[in-house]
Amino acid sequence: MLSQESRAQIEENAKRFPSAKSAILNALYVVQNEEGFVAEDGMQEIAELLGMPYTDVEAVATFYTLFQKQPAGKYRLDVCTTLTCSLLGAEHLIDYLYKKLGIKVDETTPDGMFTLRAVQCLGDCGNAPVMMVGDAYYDNLTPEKLDGILDELRRKAGESG
Ligand code: FES
Repeated sequence: MLSQESRAQIEENAKRFPSAKSAILNALYVVQNEEGFVAEDGMQEIAELLGMPYTDVEAVATFYTLFQKQPAGKYRLDVCTTLTCSLLGAEHLIDYLYKKLGIKVDETTPDGMFTLRAVQCLGDCGNAPVMMVGDAYYDNLTPEKLDGILDELRRKAGESG
């Protein structure tokens, strides 16, 4: 169940859109910001608040890959797999992460630390291949660099408890 604040925000924001349908995307952001992901009950609440069928909300959530459908790990490894990054080895990096962490794209490590995702161009093609974790960019990636990044993230997680 969403907080009163988020529910009010969805209803308030919806007034700024010409139709309830065009308010779905914004509402999905509100849910993801609060819960970290958008699951069935979150979409159900949006449908109810905007007065529309659940399937309309689900269709938008499914179309946009930026919405996480299940709880994500503490760190989301967003590896760009668009053309330039792909040509410079993005798939190889994803394969490396799979072997190292034991997770495929859209899966989370059992300790809840990492979620691996394949994403579209991150706008840093000149330094491909690129990965984003939160708002941090990591570019010119190699498997060795990934090792260092994962160690660093684990260390940070240890510090923050
Ligand atoms: Fe990967 Fe643009 S293609 S950042």
